[in-house]
Amino acid sequence: MASPATGEVVIIGSGLIGQSWAMLFASGGFKVKLYDIEPQQVTNALEKIRKEMKFLEQSGSLKGSLSAEEQGSLISGCLTMQAAAEGAMHIQECVPENLELKKKIFAQLDQIIDDKVVLSSSTSCLLPSNLFAGLVHAKQCIVAHPVNPPYYVPLVELVPHPETAPATVDRTYALMRKIGQSPVRVMKEIDGFALNRLQYAVISEAWRLVEEGIVSPSDLDLVMSDGLGMRYAFIGPLETMHLNAEGMLSYCDKYSEGMRRVLKTFGPIPDFSGATVEKVNQAMCVKVPDDPEHLAARRQWRDECLLRLAKLKRQMQSQ
Ligand code: NAI
Repeated sequence: MASPATGEVVIIGSGLIGQSWAMLFASGGFKVKLYDIEPQQVTNALEKIRKEMKFLEQSGSLKGSLSAEEQGSLISGCLTMQAAAEGAMHIQECVPENLELKKKIFAQLDQIIDDKVVLSSSTSCLLPSNLFAGLVHAKQCIVAHPVNPPYYVPLVELVPHPETAPATVDRTYALMRKIGQSPVRVMKEIDGFALNRLQYAVISEAWRLVEEGIVSPSDLDLVMSDGLGMRYAFIGPLETMHLNAEGMLSYCDKYSEGMRRVLKTFGPIPDFSGATVEKVNQAMCVKVPDDPEHLAARRQWRDECLLRLAKLKRQMQSQ
């Protein structure tokens, strides 16, 4: 397989995630071809990307060593999937989360590609073995699941299926590092991968605490944003254990009994409906009314926070 430092990257689907991937690959100096079933969507995407790059450059947050103009000139649109895929070294699929649609795209690509390209899906929750089963090029297929917004949140979960070649995983890992992302290897496919399993565990207990009237919805969010989340932006739950005692062994020695006692009191899976939805929704709408303008403004504020956090994390790493 070719070195990940050279070659063209293809993005199939130029929506929210496709645009972010295009910007990230361009920041690493790769030529990027954007394809979409809606040609106008590609035109809009190119315009949005160039604007966004200029804004990032002006605010000192553009990734990579090239200027916004240089990065923008690396990205171009393509009218057919065949023309896009020709000569590519990495294809990143970013079409809507629909198994049949994604399978159709991979079946089409399977007929076009050679044995040098990596076929990668951005899927949030479809299992790679369901996406890639029966493809001639199954060895070259992998899931590379980004986190929204990928430009500011660098994690990418790499999830192989049983037929994925180790070289495909290694090459995708190296490529992600090259564009400044933070890849993790999920060794075996599992529903929800790692990130959503952790996220759903947190959501589940949050829901139960609110449902049982133990904390209010807004206080529940503060437990994370002003408590756990402060350190989780820098160290994970396992390192937190290690640091919160004289090392991991000491932590388990001191706290395992208490952890098991509390964990035994966790309730069943919530059904996320009924009176609790009303209660949570009401509290959230007091904070952020759920009309498009307020939601968009709050998302913009969130992205600004993430951008500054990303800067701080870079500074802290280089100390
Ligand atoms: P989106 O709806 O913003 O974009 C999808 C794009 O695919 C649209 O531009 C659409 O025109 C295009 N498309 C539809 N059918 C196509 C076809 N047959 N050929 C080529 N293009 C086609 O969707 P979004 O949010 O960008 O999601 C894409 C993928 O990324 C999904 O699998 C999603 O689960 C995953 N993902 C999304 C995240 C998010 O927060 N939005 C986070 C992580 C992953």
